[in-house]
Amino acid sequence: MIVAIDGPAASGKGTLARRLADYLNLPHLDTGLLYRATARTLIEHGQNLSDVHAAVAAARGLSLTDFDTKELRGRDMGEAASIVAAIPEVRQALVDMQRSFAARPGGAVLDGRDIGTVICPQAEAKIYVTASPETRASRRALELKGQGEAVDYQAVLEEIRRRDARDASRALAPLRLAEDAVELDTTDLDIEAAFRTALSIVEGKRSKA
Ligand code: DC
Repeated sequence: MIVAIDGPAASGKGTLARRLADYLNLPHLDTGLLYRATARTLIEHGQNLSDVHAAVAAARGLSLTDFDTKELRGRDMGEAASIVAAIPEVRQALVDMQRSFAARPGGAVLDGRDIGTVICPQAEAKIYVTASPETRASRRALELKGQGEAVDYQAVLEEIRRRDARDASRALAPLRLAEDAVELDTTDLDIEAAFRTALSIVEGKRSKA
């Protein structure tokens, strides 16, 4: 079974996707890391984030094994990822890698912005995770504080709004709710409650599949 989890920055989709994958015993791909790693390669090589040729080469050169670093998950890389993710050729270069991950025997859980709409429109279960920008900003600020980073809530909120606007307004594969996705608003839910709701959505779809 393929489970597609989409949603805006800091909505909690990553945590939910990881927990679902653990519970269902499926492999998990955080597709934001692909865009983050593409951006990191450009930055490391002193190249411009809007250099299409360099960005496509960086995306094509990625391997799924060099991802799990703390640096990739930082704020700066999120912003840079959102910029390279708006380049259609970069998105195109990353499609096959994501689809072959999803095609693993038994299925997979993928989270991102366009999994249910573009990468895996055939996914059996699609969840669109949202929360108000204020809630997402305070969760993100708390998380960053926990990592020892000095954070200004207002700056985090502005960053989230800017990223939402960019991710939702790009020409190719913008962030949006797939027609057959179930929306899960976690504004008033803690992680346990969000997980239980997500799991019941997935199990409901699985019993129908
Ligand atoms: O989910 P994240 O915060 O790690 O994603 C970082 C950026 O990557 C996000 O702002 C937009 C882009 N992204 C995308 O365009 N499509 C995806 N499937 C995943 C991420």
